[in-house]
Amino acid sequence: MLKNLMTGIFLWALFVQPQVFAQSTITVQANKPGAEISPTMWGVFFEDINFAADGGIYAELVKNRSFKFPDPLMGWKVPFRDSIRVINSRIDEKDHRYLRLPSLKSTQLNYIQNQGFRGMGIHGGESYRLVLGSRVAEGNNLSLLVELLNENGDPISKTQLSGLTTNWDKKEVVFEATATSAKANLRISLQGKGAVDFNYVSLFPVNTFKNRPNGMRADLAELLNGLNPGFLRFPGGCIVEGHHLDLRYQWKKTVGDLDERELIINRWNTEFMHRHTPDYYQSFGLGFFEYFVLSEDLGAEPLPILNCGMACQYNTGELAPLDEMEVYIQDALDLIEFANGDTSSKWGKLRADMGHPEPFNLKYVGIGNEQWGHQYLERYDLIAAAVRAKYPDIQLVTGSGPSADGDRFDYLWKELKGRQADLVDEHYYKDPNWFFNNARRYDSYERGGLKVFAGEYASHVRNENIKEATSSNCWLAALSEAAYMTGLERNADVVHMASYAPLFAHVDAWQWRPDLIWFDNLKAVATPNYYVQQLYSTHSGTNVLPVSADGEIVAGQDSLYASASLDKNTGRIYLKVVNASKEAKELVVNFTGLKPAAKEALLTELAENDLTKFNTLDQPENIIPQKDKAALKGTKLSLMLKPQSFVLVDVAGKK
Ligand code: AHR
Repeated sequence: MLKNLMTGIFLWALFVQPQVFAQSTITVQANKPGAEISPTMWGVFFEDINFAADGGIYAELVKNRSFKFPDPLMGWKVPFRDSIRVINSRIDEKDHRYLRLPSLKSTQLNYIQNQGFRGMGIHGGESYRLVLGSRVAEGNNLSLLVELLNENGDPISKTQLSGLTTNWDKKEVVFEATATSAKANLRISLQGKGAVDFNYVSLFPVNTFKNRPNGMRADLAELLNGLNPGFLRFPGGCIVEGHHLDLRYQWKKTVGDLDERELIINRWNTEFMHRHTPDYYQSFGLGFFEYFVLSEDLGAEPLPILNCGMACQYNTGELAPLDEMEVYIQDALDLIEFANGDTSSKWGKLRADMGHPEPFNLKYVGIGNEQWGHQYLERYDLIAAAVRAKYPDIQLVTGSGPSADGDRFDYLWKELKGRQADLVDEHYYKDPNWFFNNARRYDSYERGGLKVFAGEYASHVRNENIKEATSSNCWLAALSEAAYMTGLERNADVVHMASYAPLFAHVDAWQWRPDLIWFDNLKAVATPNYYVQQLYSTHSGTNVLPVSADGEIVAGQDSLYASASLDKNTGRIYLKVVNASKEAKELVVNFTGLKPAAKEALLTELAENDLTKFNTLDQPENIIPQKDKAALKGTKLSLMLKPQSFVLVDVAGKK
């Protein structure tokens, strides 16, 4: 009997007794808007790493389209190597490489076949545009059979191209794919007796982002659009610096005719030998003009970063002599003219000739990436002085070295004060604990001085033994970033820009992880980190609101992190709360001074019990935002925070 009673009590305790949760109260002072939040606060960092540009967002499907790779046939399959000729006509001292495809003695068709970037992503039912730079070298009535082949070599699309002449010209044909393939190839076969020369073979989906010619892969650009980014930083990253100065990023070589853009090796080709990517080059089809157009299409401020006369200090660290800095200074001045100048100016005219007579309204220029030491400052000063003198309204972004602290960092911060500079670019790739423990990082920064651009950051979880490419973008990493970002928002008077890095990675061709967005040739997946960024960037607000618990800012006590903002234009209040503990928590939020315009608050929640969980291309919805509502009682809101969760609370207040 007693035993039965005890069992009954035990079961009651287990199933009937209400669970007791730790309760916390926080106060959001809804009627005390503080520092303004810069419209540029949450942006994106773009670098051509992990096949982000060629093979990624740049929608070109042909790799090595002008045969300019050091191995002219890299990316190309030819059935009879001996029959193909690679010709380099140096008619005007420049390389003009082309391929000669002759017919065979037999009745068999000779062809060239492009393998794309680890295959081509072809969608059944979609249209593709082939552009061929070609001429007839020999013979009459020649035509070309153009086919898309799936991974088994079966045609999934066919078309004919005729009317070839003995003059070089660009022929265009649009055709539809009848089936989908993630690893398709493009085959061009010669019909008739003779030979045809090719200097350019390009294949794009007709459907690009905003239907731009030479445009961006729509699904990847739409993901960027979903972030409503305040700025687009480009082109990197270390890619700005180069292993040595010859291989630095030179924007002038990335504008003008596509054929004229000078290909160079991508530094990430050889940077990590354990992730060697021998077929990684920069075609610059996505060059500075396209970056500006993309910024405009995204409604983001363009933020170009320029080389400052220094190669990557982790590589050669080559320096331009101080008395040979003119070329770097001129690059900066000319870039501003290219972006903003009158169409009668040299570079403004080029912008207009490329199809954009209106200025791009460039406001920011970054000088140098992760440089350090007095060598950086000496070079920086020369460029900054020239830019300030000619364009006093341009905001200058300086580097602070490759890490978030230490001698190099401290030295630059100290030296930069009082110099011609506006924003200091800080980079940190740290473990999740660092992010949780540094939510107060900017609380003690000097006010009213240089602003911070948190230009590259990501929480790095050590998990090399996990095979899935996207695994390092696990929930622990994203949760720690969400916690940390409360500190960025709270300090919006100091931090004016922030961007996660890197942005993109191809699952079959990456060098660096974690990354914000992963993709293959057909699909893309947003990581939990992406959703964290998105909840901040799409609910930014115009002013910081004070948030406290027991009179203290909320930055880790009881494993809670919180920040809030007000959108003065709409009256909406956005509260971001992270519960980093393994336990659920009851949270009472008191919005003091709130004049509610609705009885309910809208909630968006990211939560996951398994901190190692992540999204994949096949399971993209393991961790995604969930919507809910909660009733407001007067100015109070009671929330049940799930373990390890990030919640956005959206409250409508009267304007
Ligand atoms: O984001 C990847 C690399 O990290 C960037 O190129 C560089 O700036 C940093 O070291």
